[in-house]
Amino acid sequence: MSPSTLTVTDNRTNRTYTFPIEDGTVRAMDFRGIKTSEDDFGLMMYDPAFMNTASCRSDITYIDGDRGILEYRGYPIDQLAQRCTYLEISYLILFGELPTASELNHWVYEITHHTMLHETMKKFMEGFRYDAHPMSMMISSVAALATVYPHAHEVHDPANRLLQIKRLIAKMPSIAAMSYRHSLGFPYVYPDNDLSYTENFMNMLWRMVEPKYAANPVLARALEVLFILHMDHEQNCSTSTMRMVGSALTNPYLCVASAAAALAGPLHGGANEEVTRMLDEIGSIDNVPAYIRNVKDGCCKLMGFGHRVYKNFDPRAKLIKQIAEDVFGVTGRNPKLDIALELERIALQDDYFVSRKLYPNVDFYSGLIYQTIGFKPEMFTVLFTIPRTVGWLAQWQEMINDSEQKIARPRQIYTGPRSRLVVPLAEREQNSGTMNQPVAL
Ligand code: CMC
Repeated sequence: MSPSTLTVTDNRTNRTYTFPIEDGTVRAMDFRGIKTSEDDFGLMMYDPAFMNTASCRSDITYIDGDRGILEYRGYPIDQLAQRCTYLEISYLILFGELPTASELNHWVYEITHHTMLHETMKKFMEGFRYDAHPMSMMISSVAALATVYPHAHEVHDPANRLLQIKRLIAKMPSIAAMSYRHSLGFPYVYPDNDLSYTENFMNMLWRMVEPKYAANPVLARALEVLFILHMDHEQNCSTSTMRMVGSALTNPYLCVASAAAALAGPLHGGANEEVTRMLDEIGSIDNVPAYIRNVKDGCCKLMGFGHRVYKNFDPRAKLIKQIAEDVFGVTGRNPKLDIALELERIALQDDYFVSRKLYPNVDFYSGLIYQTIGFKPEMFTVLFTIPRTVGWLAQWQEMINDSEQKIARPRQIYTGPRSRLVVPLAEREQNSGTMNQPVAL
């Protein structure tokens, strides 16, 4: 018997089955053949929240959560962040190799020349209330782009896909900036093709009446590195959403809107906004021990702490702490930093956090930096969305090209009643499954 196999005995039938183990994985579909009778459906795997299910093969991002390793296409994240530009790494993530100088020039030209938004987007934007959340505006606006590019649904055409990929990477900062200016009531700023990706984003956010926007180079580089750290993170909630919606061959603008909606949640990309609110609520270093006690009592979570995959440290959080020093050198120190450092210090010594392997994640310090650069907390997740779009699109492209993939369709264990008779309306009595006494959902 090959050592790379798994043998299981079904004690219901005393039958034994042997399955191949490949890449440390057994195929869930092999278990379907384990039956008690001919008409038995076969065994399924039950895995709520996909805690132990690989849904795809991927060449894009490698994470070793126990050792705190993150690599894009095999390159360690710290090297990429120190040595490369954002668009260079977007090329790497999408095409698998770092570009040559001429490939990079061409790529930068292409992205730069797709940053303009169709004028109709202004009208969509103007429809939002003055206090609309920028993340909701961004999600709706990127979905609205599907109306501008209806041919984008031809997802089996590689040239068409590449065109939409360029448009999305180029236009996400333009939409983000528009949503920010809308919330301030400021006129929208058009892109400036002379500037780098992040400088141009800053230009669209902050240019007022000056003829040419000049970004502070330290802040522009800090933003660029933050973008690099957020570009991809394998099969997280939003990326899985991108793949799942994309598996129905949906227009990529709608896929990105769906993925961004998943990212908006406070347990995912929305956590950076929540960290800032939490630090405001704590208010001063003196209140940190009491707040930690509340967390341990289960009253709330320590936002920006914990990760499904990283159980040692989040390598992005380490790099972000360094960026904070650079930014605070220009802007002055964010007064909330001291509260954050004290939270981290106490939590890292406390058995509750140590035993659960809870460490600061990417969101713990990023919000503080964004705030110091000049962003409102509502913009933080929008800032996460811009670079993560690259990862989503690379994963989408990989999914489309993967002959093993089809429309995603998990199974369920049905636990409800069966084959009931419909009682006529006039004869029905109140029961426990009504709106007044809702069943537990
Ligand atoms: N504060 C306090 N306790 C926590 C925290 C936290 N931030 N995170 C997890 N725990 C506890 C949790 O209550 C559980 O305890 P017990 O075993 O006693 O029930 C234990 O740690 C294991 O947690 P879990 O909920 O099973 O872990 P998970 O892998 O399902 O959740 C997480 C991962 C990131 C959703 C969670 O750690 C969390 O909610 N963190 C706060 C939100 C946050 O910072 N999210 C950003 C994640 S990184 C960026 C991104 O990928 O979007």
